[in-house]
Amino acid sequence: MTIPLTRPLMEADEEQEVLDVLRSGAIGTGPKTVQFEREFASYIGRKHAVGTDSCTNALHLALRAVGVGEGDEVITTPMTFVATANSIVYTGAKPIFVDVEPDTLNIDPARIAAAVTERTRAIVLVHLYGHPCEMDQILDIAKRYGLKVVSDCAHAIEAEYRGMKAGALGDVSCYSFYATKNLATGNGGMLVTDDDQVAELVTVLRDHGMSAGAWNRYQTGESKHYAMTHLGYKCIMWDLQAALGLAQLKKIEARHARRVKLAALYHSLLAPLEPYVEPLHPRSHVKHAHHLFPVMLHGMDRDWVAAQSEASGIGVGVHYRPVHLEPFYRKEYGHSPGEFPVAEGAGEGLLSLPFWPEMEESHVVRVAKTLQEVLDGHRKENGASQGNWTGQAMLPEASAP
Ligand SMILES: Cc1ncc(COP(=O)(O)O)c(C=O)c1O
Repeated sequence: MTIPLTRPLMEADEEQEVLDVLRSGAIGTGPKTVQFEREFASYIGRKHAVGTDSCTNALHLALRAVGVGEGDEVITTPMTFVATANSIVYTGAKPIFVDVEPDTLNIDPARIAAAVTERTRAIVLVHLYGHPCEMDQILDIAKRYGLKVVSDCAHAIEAEYRGMKAGALGDVSCYSFYATKNLATGNGGMLVTDDDQVAELVTVLRDHGMSAGAWNRYQTGESKHYAMTHLGYKCIMWDLQAALGLAQLKKIEARHARRVKLAALYHSLLAPLEPYVEPLHPRSHVKHAHHLFPVMLHGMDRDWVAAQSEASGIGVGVHYRPVHLEPFYRKEYGHSPGEFPVAEGAGEGLLSLPFWPEMEESHVVRVAKTLQEVLDGHRKENGASQGNWTGQAMLPEASAP
């Protein structure tokens, strides 16, 4: 049996919530969305939450709402999913990439100031894999230069920085509820902020730029007419997504506790494979959301290891190869290899291992064992003298899942 990279869990309570919506006769944006927004805002500790159809569109709307537009520059990280940088491009602004810290792979605060110009309007940071960025330093820089801070919290729902939810810091934070995320509604997103004007504008922009959404109009009975005040978009959340979100939000901390346990097990089982296989270690002042479990491979070809792992029934992924080297960014902005060496080095060695809360301990053991076998195979093919895996590790026997 293949151990997949990730697997969403849908239980009886999710089914019941969805059935309630289906039977209610109202499946668009409605009361479940409003309830989910309220509960999510309270979970993060923000005044407003606005549901959307994705994190990508939440980021785009957030940037528009804080005033980013044509001709502006926005500082961001190359070590992320393409959606982060794309959301900047949608506004007409230019993404300015800054290299990352070697241990967390988050944007390196020490490099941000040098990238600021008179056109810089905002920083879009990403709490990669669920490890919060160094917010004290980033917020200081933002204050010094008058920049808005928009956080891509796609991986970081449960994450905390010095005891505060990571998404409660900065101006606006955006979440993803895509099928693979820690809270998964298939597609879906949320934007949270304490700023009344940003929340109001995003609420208008997400629904065609109309001053009151369809559900509001019918709900209040005020007017059957709408006024289109802005050129908006169609990226609303709908109640079927919110229903799944409500059920999952109740379980998110319990499931996170399981993530912590499994991550610790991975760390102990993979320790004998260091320095060839190097997991990323969280810093002591953060609560890591543990969205993914990536390792850095040293002295061997990552794609070869990935192919061998897949052939042995272990689902793996690559999160990420740096965005500036994607063909679009090379072509449009003239990027080329060598600009951001930390991100580029990581992009060649990263491999994400199977990770989801209901994974069994025996699955983790099997993954570690398979990795050891793959490393042994690499040694046989390439010889132990080339700085490759030397095969000393002793891993426990895997009990077949
Ligand atoms: C870091 C990051 N940002 C943004 C996104 C985009 O999220 P969505 O699929 O909800 O638009 C993702 C999704 O994988 C992501 O991993």
